[in-house]
Amino acid sequence: MPGMDVFGAEERHEVNEVLETGCLFRYNHEHLRQDRWKARELEAETRKYTSAAFAHAVSSGSTAVAAAMAASGLGFGDEIIVPPFTYIATIEGVLLGGGLPVFAEIDENLCLSAEGIEKVITPRTKGVMLVHMCGAAADMDSILAVCKKHNLKLLEDAGQALGAFYKGKSVGLFGEAGAFSLDFFKIITAGEGGLCITNDEKISNYIEQFSDHGHSHLGSNRGMEAHPILGTNFRLSELHAAVGLAQIRKLHDIRDRKRHNHSYLKSRLSEVAELRFRPVPDQDGDSGTFLNFFLPTQALAEQTAKNLAAAGIGVNYWFTNMYHFINQWDHLKKLESPFKMAIHHLGAPQDYSNLDIPISQDVVGRLLSVGTKVTWTKEDMDKLADQMIDVIRKTIG
Ligand SMILES: Cc1ncc(COP(=O)(O)O)c(C=O)c1O
Repeated sequence: MPGMDVFGAEERHEVNEVLETGCLFRYNHEHLRQDRWKARELEAETRKYTSAAFAHAVSSGSTAVAAAMAASGLGFGDEIIVPPFTYIATIEGVLLGGGLPVFAEIDENLCLSAEGIEKVITPRTKGVMLVHMCGAAADMDSILAVCKKHNLKLLEDAGQALGAFYKGKSVGLFGEAGAFSLDFFKIITAGEGGLCITNDEKISNYIEQFSDHGHSHLGSNRGMEAHPILGTNFRLSELHAAVGLAQIRKLHDIRDRKRHNHSYLKSRLSEVAELRFRPVPDQDGDSGTFLNFFLPTQALAEQTAKNLAAAGIGVNYWFTNMYHFINQWDHLKKLESPFKMAIHHLGAPQDYSNLDIPISQDVVGRLLSVGTKVTWTKEDMDKLADQMIDVIRKTIG
């Protein structure tokens, strides 16, 4: 919970400004709000940080994914290529929008690979929902090339990757639109919240309208505003926006400190010759939120995770312990849902219980990740590294 590591007076000040006026709603009510516009300011800061032409705050990372998909014109019956290693929210977003998820291989960069994408393209493929996993960007040059070649729309679920860049460009700006999460566990948090960014004005307008029942947001009489499209309510409250606003102003500093700690811990763990680290196409673009490394085999990774846990050291072993890999998604394999989605009518495009994804199984099977902390001192990191190295060496033998 990095954002929460630096929660303090600034967040309380922004929230109090909202509480003083009582204007918890992001639109209109000029007579109440004393010119305080927290969601708007959060969007302005997001544009500044990412250099996006447009940014829109929404209620969660999940709704940001759904809004980005709808606004890009992807929906009923469209095959959308997704990774098997992500939080389930990515897949739910595609399903709720009427899309049909098609799983492709990731590689050691922990994101979809261009080769993986190309292998599962069919005449019904309309888009790719790329996930920038664990705080760093996918290999954008090759992925953009494959999307261009096959005329696929690219969406970016950057739920875990605010503060990640590729060759100087923020993730979320490579395709139609990108989605960030501001939930409690992310690099910065609003408690709950999300952000959509795009450089496309038409898509931006759709994101904004779709996230508020199609409201045009033109004029000053909300009750009589035009509704050019159907939508729903993905709005962010001013209270959440206030927290997010204070946090995004700290993002440069959080990222710098995380990258510093990431690099120091990596240098220490490099003392174990058997460990390999996640290859990141643009090292300078890594937000530093996770240090990801591979053990030589799945069995050693599993045992190392167990031994580290027994020693009181928390690491993520996504293959079995976390809800981020398809092996754990029995509900998806059975298409369990309280209502009929497009996929129930049209049928799943793949047999989700028997996917041919040996590379992803191998990669995630060998992967361990440590979430970096902003508040770590050098002494904290040395102690952690000494303990980890000891456990890893004893496990590897
Ligand atoms: C890759 C990814 N996408 C989307 C989400 C959903 O974000 P939220 O919890 O804000 O709905 C998450 C949350 O963990 C995520 O990791």
